[in-house]
Amino acid sequence: MKKRHVGIACVVIGGAILSWASAADLPGLLAVQQLALRVVEETRELMQVEVRARGPAGALQQCSKIALGLAKQHEEEGWRVRRVSVKYRNPADAPDEYEARVLDEFAALKAKGELQVDTEHADVVTEEGRRYLRYMKPIVLRSPVCLSCHGQPDEISPEVKAELQRLYPQDKATGYRVADLRGAVSVKIPLGAGE
Ligand code: HEC
Repeated sequence: MKKRHVGIACVVIGGAILSWASAADLPGLLAVQQLALRVVEETRELMQVEVRARGPAGALQQCSKIALGLAKQHEEEGWRVRRVSVKYRNPADAPDEYEARVLDEFAALKAKGELQVDTEHADVVTEEGRRYLRYMKPIVLRSPVCLSCHGQPDEISPEVKAELQRLYPQDKATGYRVADLRGAVSVKIPLGAGE
């Protein structure tokens, strides 16, 4: 269980959320946690099925499907749901300043062997006079199926390489191994006017 404060209200939660006294102040935190978990787990499940069914070249467009679908579902509530990575494939997944900082923290935890399955990060921030709950959950590459599109050069077929080159000429998202930190789910929700 880890708890620390940086800036306004920042916690790295490892384990029981109950350990965080102010959690009750944050409407929707539980829903956000569940949403992020869905992005991670359903993407992994979907890619396992899709790569088996269509091969990696045919399944290329599916990796963003869960995240985009859930983002769309929550658009009207003003929630922003996305996946971010320092080594992004789609430039739309480049982290903003806040996300880059949290990704750095996750990477530091990972380097120390302290990134847990339940590591997550929540902050209440004020941006341009509005309060937001910002939440991030690490995406660790846990399945060998990911390597057919994010692995070492010799793990990626010429067909996939050609497609990646065509669709993502600036692709940075290769060279990963199982258990690497791939990025994070990032959720940002408006909390109403500042105090
Ligand atoms: C069939 C190829 C393929 C497989 C397998 C695959 N991905 Fe991806 N992945 C992609 C593509 C293509 C994108 C860019 C999607 C877009 O344009 O939004 C991407 C994007 C991502 C992103 C968003 C950040 C970025 O780089 O843009 C994450 C995170 C990610 N993949 C994680 C995974 C994980 C974890 C697995 C294994 C469960 C996996 N991927 C399996 C093709 C794949």
